[in-house]
Amino acid sequence: MRVTERAHEAVRAIVRAGDHVIDATAGNGWDTCFLAGLVGPEGRVFAFDIQEEAIASTKSRLVAQGIKDERVTLIHESHAALQRHIEEPVAAVMFNLGYRPGGDHELRTHREETLTALAEGWTVLREGGVMSVVCYRGHPGGMKEGEGVLEFAGRLQGRGAVVGISGKKETEAGPFVVVLKKRQPEAFSEPSW
Ligand SMILES: C[S@@+](CC[C@H](N)C(=O)[O-])C[C@H]1O[C@@H](n2cnc3c(N)ncnc32)[C@H](O)[C@@H]1O
Repeated sequence: MRVTERAHEAVRAIVRAGDHVIDATAGNGWDTCFLAGLVGPEGRVFAFDIQEEAIASTKSRLVAQGIKDERVTLIHESHAALQRHIEEPVAAVMFNLGYRPGGDHELRTHREETLTALAEGWTVLREGGVMSVVCYRGHPGGMKEGEGVLEFAGRLQGRGAVVGISGKKETEAGPFVVVLKKRQPEAFSEPSW
């Protein structure tokens, strides 16, 4: 199974109709449309991208799929400003890092900004919610960015997150996905004895 499909599988297991969710990297809109399908007409998708072309591409895909605009808020800004736009808890945050397929490879995600956005995304994620991060290591900076994502997940593991990693061992420079689920508070409750 491709890493993007693994990310979808993890998100599909959690998100329900009416939920609010985030696509932190809209790109060509595949993930935004996927999320819009899951949340349905009563839900809301907030989709970020720094590229005008990505916003336009996502908009056309939504139209082509007959998805009504009011369900999706397209935000032409860095995901590092995520909390400026979203305050209420969300059920899922999806990151698909790197550059937009078919677009300018120089316009890609960068480690420090990604780490800021991961922290902000984790803050707005509701208990029981899921965050997926697809990492590519073949482009300049991709290896370091992927390491940063793994360090971020490692810091949260056992401290509020259940972490799953898939694809990392298949090839040295290939893509992998990190899935973090935010634990429910009862999972932390002390035993009564
Ligand atoms: C691999 S593509 C995303 C693919 C997309 N999820 C899809 O389903 O088509 C990565 C995208 O991240 C965007 N990006 C790069 N830096 C960003 C940032 N700081 N904030 C938001 N998006 C960013 C790029 O412009 C690019 O469109």
